[in-house]
Amino acid sequence: MPTIGFDDCVAVIRANDIGNYTVPTHGLYPFQWNWDSCLTALGQAHFDEARAWTEIDTLFANQWEDGMVPHIVFHKQDDGYFPGPEVWRTNRPTPTSGITQPPVAGFAVRRLFERAKDRSLAEERARALLPRIHAWHEWFFRCRDPQGSGLVAILHPWESGRDNAIDWDAALERVPTDGVMPFTRRDLLHADPDHRPTQAQYERYIALVQLFRGLGWKNETLHHASPFKVVDPGFNAILFRSCADLADLADELGEPTIATSARARATTGVEALEGLWSDECRQYLCFDRSIGERIDSHSVGGLLSAFAPIPAQRAADIAARIQELANVASFLVPSHDPTDHRYDGRRYWRGPTWLIVNYMIADGLSTARQKTVAERIVADSLRLIEESGFAEYYDPQTGEPCGGGRFTWTAAIAMEFLASSQGAQ
Ligand code: GLC
Repeated sequence: MPTIGFDDCVAVIRANDIGNYTVPTHGLYPFQWNWDSCLTALGQAHFDEARAWTEIDTLFANQWEDGMVPHIVFHKQDDGYFPGPEVWRTNRPTPTSGITQPPVAGFAVRRLFERAKDRSLAEERARALLPRIHAWHEWFFRCRDPQGSGLVAILHPWESGRDNAIDWDAALERVPTDGVMPFTRRDLLHADPDHRPTQAQYERYIALVQLFRGLGWKNETLHHASPFKVVDPGFNAILFRSCADLADLADELGEPTIATSARARATTGVEALEGLWSDECRQYLCFDRSIGERIDSHSVGGLLSAFAPIPAQRAADIAARIQELANVASFLVPSHDPTDHRYDGRRYWRGPTWLIVNYMIADGLSTARQKTVAERIVADSLRLIEESGFAEYYDPQTGEPCGGGRFTWTAAIAMEFLASSQGAQ
């Protein structure tokens, strides 16, 4: 039995709680992050349901009029992070970034709602969030899939949530860096440079921010203007799972119009995802929409697709592929294939194992009755926590803790895994 318990997780989450939002970890990430908050709420609900709803409410209070929910909300001034609001210049009442992040809110809100002990609170909060989440999903289809392919593109690597994944290398290479502002990174003050993205990557991240800022953050224009346009199967899977969950939630709340529309999006999306499947790699692959080519990169993005209601055969294929990765990694699921020469087991999203990703893959595989692999993922995750604490991410070979420490969503997901391993869902 694990020696780490709920109380240890609660302590980490409480230590990062600012009142109505939670920082991912003090120092490295001193603001509110979008998908961090949604996944954090799942942990908070184990000890304070009202606080969990507030976490998501605070995020959606900063939704843009066009429907986008930004990736960072800068509730307070903090010089310890770059790029701050003075770089984004999005002109919001509370400053925010100008890009988004994986839309996991639909999934999280449905899960909070289903498990809630306080039914009236849950109904009130879920009812208020429902149209807002739906508006965010519709924003994706309108602004990030203008041709109506069923699949949405990310316009900045940070939108994927997998910031420096090998998936983006070639596309990012093509982003011009002439005219990029001089800047000083702050992340290197808080974390080992070997665990973080490189300077060349950072220059391109900032070049894209400058480009979008120059276009006044008008979302209808950015997809066309961006030199970086990638369709990520993991990101799309999160969107389709959230659409499907939102549809079910809408049914329960007696909102048939939202239910029908969200369900249609999920169905069409999952069908379109099939076009990203690779028989040879036995996983989904990213697609570079700027040049119309598949991206040859075996990352966890193509396995995370198991989170969506994909066909049973695809879930079985992904389970088999993960089983194979267990031969070359001690702790599932590495964010990149360890046999690829570009793999780097300690550098952020170029190899390390992340508990939030494990959670979503295990959830999808377990729904698809791929229990053996799902259980192995949960067991490996709990072993990581036992051996290395609540790190931001871990080396899949050694289990070494990497990045920031005492990380909020790692603790939240640990609670979810502890609850499932104790059969106390
Ligand atoms: C990094 C991660 C991103 C996360 C953020 C805050 O940027 O790549 O997924 O949301 O940190 O934890």
